[in-house]
Amino acid sequence: MKILVLNGPNLNLLGTREPDQYGQASLADVQALCEQTAKTLGHEVECFQSNHEGALIDKIHEAGKAHQAGLLLGAVFNPGAFTHTSVALHDAIKGTGLPVVEVHISNVHAREAFRHHSYVSPVAVGVVVGLGIQGYALAIQGLATR
Ligand code: DQA
Repeated sequence: MKILVLNGPNLNLLGTREPDQYGQASLADVQALCEQTAKTLGHEVECFQSNHEGALIDKIHEAGKAHQAGLLLGAVFNPGAFTHTSVALHDAIKGTGLPVVEVHISNVHAREAFRHHSYVSPVAVGVVVGLGIQGYALAIQGLATR
């Protein structure tokens, strides 16, 4: 089965963006880790990153249809800063019924207060926070075994 790995705004800058916060690994490294993890579980991944809220919503709609058709297990989603702002992403996940595991590389709860609230968490099947890029691998395992 396929698993969608979805990354939101600024995650294309991984590796060079605030390395103290997000580490040295690039988005390509994250995607390679996800491919490897999925493969060991007998699954495959599709990776998509966008800095645009609407593009992420369109992808969730598409993934929701694939999930309904039995072609997609669900999505691992790091919504970046849209986590803290986007009612539209909340509605897209809720409206499609797509199983989503929310991932954050950093521990958002140990950071600024504006990062403590997530619009995505109430509609996620699970959340992995603060474990670095290994969080993506754990989220894939979680999706695969639920
Ligand atoms: C992030 C945390 C968000 O608060 C931030 O806006 C990001 C990355 C993380 O992975 O730790 O862009 O989602």
